[in-house]
Amino acid sequence: MSLSQSPLKSFSHALVTGATGGLGQAFVKTLILKSNVKVISICGRNLEILQSLADFAKEHQVVLHYESFDCTDFAKLSDFIEKANSRVIEYPIDLFIANAGVSVIKILKVLKPHKKCNADF
Ligand SMILES: NC(=O)c1ccc[n+]([C@@H]2O[C@H](COP(=O)([O-])OP(=O)(O)OC[C@H]3O[C@@H](n4cnc5c(N)ncnc54)[C@H](OP(=O)(O)O)[C@@H]3O)[C@@H](O)[C@H]2O)c1
Repeated sequence: MSLSQSPLKSFSHALVTGATGGLGQAFVKTLILKSNVKVISICGRNLEILQSLADFAKEHQVVLHYESFDCTDFAKLSDFIEKANSRVIEYPIDLFIANAGVSVIKILKVLKPHKKCNADF
């Protein structure tokens, strides 16, 4: 599959939890460099790394919002997802990368499965 056919090209708003970790940072940088996403929402606990990812996104003209909190605080996680989903009305979250935290149905209720995805939310 060529890069122009990559499924990554079809997403517009990605949310990444655990974005400050090894895989999280790699996902965020790949989205910035190789996808067509317009908005990225990320969370983690390391403010310095979150800010450096925001700077990297800005250099590449990608809008990136971040928040620092502990993912085991379900109320905060739920609030973060709700806010991210409604922040840019034309770009609801269509890619959810859960590196940290848990996939609790109640928390994910604002998300709708991607048309190409059979995941049962
Ligand atoms: N790396 C692999 O080969 C591999 C393979 C299979 C599965 N996985 C899974 O993929 C996920 C990411 O792997 P990784 O290698 O990128 O791990 P990692 O480098 O340890 O990153 C984990 C990320 O999750 C964050 N995190 C952990 N607990 C948190 C909490 N309570 N609240 C908020 N953030 C929290 C960490 O934040 P802090 O920096 O603040 O701790 C960090 O950003 C993990 O679930 C891992 O089990 C990894």
